Amino acid sequence: MMSSGTNSGAGSEAGSRTSSGAGPHRPSTESLSPAWELLLPAAAAPARGRGRALRSALREAVRSGRLAGGTRLPSSRELAADLGVSRGLVTEAYEQLTAESYLRSGRGAGTWVSEGVRAAERPVRDRAPRAAGAAGARVDFRPGTPDLSLFPRGAWSAAQRAVWGRLPHSALGYPDPRGLPELREALAGLLARRRGVVADPERLVVCSGVAQATTLLGFVLRDAGVTSVGVEDPGSPEHASLFAATGLGTVPLPLDDDGLALAPLVRSGVRAVVTTPAHQFPTGIGYSAQRRGELLGWARDTDAVIMEDDYDGDFRYDREPVGALQGLDPERVVYTGSVSKSLAPGLRLGWLIAPAALTERIVARKRTMDLGNPVLDQAVLADFVVRGGYDRQLRRCQRAYRERRDAMVAALDEHFPGTTVSGIAAGLHIIARLPARYGPEDALLERAAGAGIALRPLRDCGTAGSEDGSVPLVLGYAHLAPGDIARGVAALAEAWRSGGSGRR
Ligand SMILES: Cc1ncc(COP(=O)(O)O)c(C=O)c1O
Repeated sequence: MMSSGTNSGAGSEAGSRTSSGAGPHRPSTESLSPAWELLLPAAAAPARGRGRALRSALREAVRSGRLAGGTRLPSSRELAADLGVSRGLVTEAYEQLTAESYLRSGRGAGTWVSEGVRAAERPVRDRAPRAAGAAGARVDFRPGTPDLSLFPRGAWSAAQRAVWGRLPHSALGYPDPRGLPELREALAGLLARRRGVVADPERLVVCSGVAQATTLLGFVLRDAGVTSVGVEDPGSPEHASLFAATGLGTVPLPLDDDGLALAPLVRSGVRAVVTTPAHQFPTGIGYSAQRRGELLGWARDTDAVIMEDDYDGDFRYDREPVGALQGLDPERVVYTGSVSKSLAPGLRLGWLIAPAALTERIVARKRTMDLGNPVLDQAVLADFVVRGGYDRQLRRCQRAYRERRDAMVAALDEHFPGTTVSGIAAGLHIIARLPARYGPEDALLERAAGAGIALRPLRDCGTAGSEDGSVPLVLGYAHLAPGDIARGVAALAEAWRSGGSGRR
């Protein structure tokens, strides 16, 4: 804790050594109390900015509470001497901060830190409790992230340079809220070719990931009088929270082996539903051809909308990717996707393709939300797609992820015999059901957390728990090297055997 009162003792001695900011700055660090040491970096700033640096360091010290209200500051002469700066700089800083109410001067001589200056609230994310085992996890098996080290930095920078070389000044104005025409053209071609989407660039809206696509659709549906949306159960918890942010409720709807079960959907009375037909999140099932047809029939009969979240539809390992549902009826399906799994979620770049009846309303929402995505990022992605970089990236990831998937299945087989795996034909995660002897679930999760292994139980994604005592886990593998997967699964087995006393 900082001391209050003046920095007594060595002040005058030091003052005699350094009285001018013009000379070499040799602060008397031996005499400084910890409270004033925090001003040393400012004192060492280049002469031109030293005064400003000192004022901000003092302000920050007061705001953060390191200089508590009521603390008496050293005299300007003493502090100048201790810091090795001119007395004028300190006087100026004291006067300025007194004028700003960070400091107050007493009736006689002396300057104090004002009471009542509040430290800024720390961001919520710093204070929020973390998921068990997530903070500093030794191994993180939670799904959702691709291997960020596979990001094509070289090709991306080349595309950036190419774009800066050819982008006219006029392109740096406000963009078309639906996206840069060249990107919409490029994406329409890509999605038609790779995903069988009916892609009219006029109906394609570039947005900040599937997350923003969901929000845009949510607002438009709400404006149209919709009050709740059907979501898959189990499904992505994100869908419910994003729709909630637009004022819509969600109705969890069960799945069967073919996809979203039809009868509960019909009974629910919803007029909009979110689906992940290519690789259901999290179970990994692909919707059957029959269920796709039934769903579209339901949408036509009830004048409903289906949102298709094609979040990882490009990654399929053992057979050709199944085409998008949207290709079967573009007037009933809002198709959404992003580069979050293929390139990096931090780019925040995605797209939606809307039915004609909804396009303009969605574009109007996009306009009022953010006036469109950043032009440069869009131009770079367009360049990257057109020059074949996107296809190359998908091929590269596909090879790496297949190998990792195999490593995960093999490691489970070795260390958790009897485990059944599903959803392994595509995507970046699998579902592993560990036999009941590895349960109960809470105990396993606790042991894993104790050993620094972060896991996501399937129950986090839905309403129903396991009925037979097995422990169903959603295991992400794409972001981990095969060796790390093998070691991580072995460490999990060890944690289970040792009752959670595994070394971190
Ligand atoms: C089901 C599902 N949809 C979409 C996304 C991606 O969202 P975005 O494109 O906004 O990054 C994720 C991310 O993990 C997801 O799990």
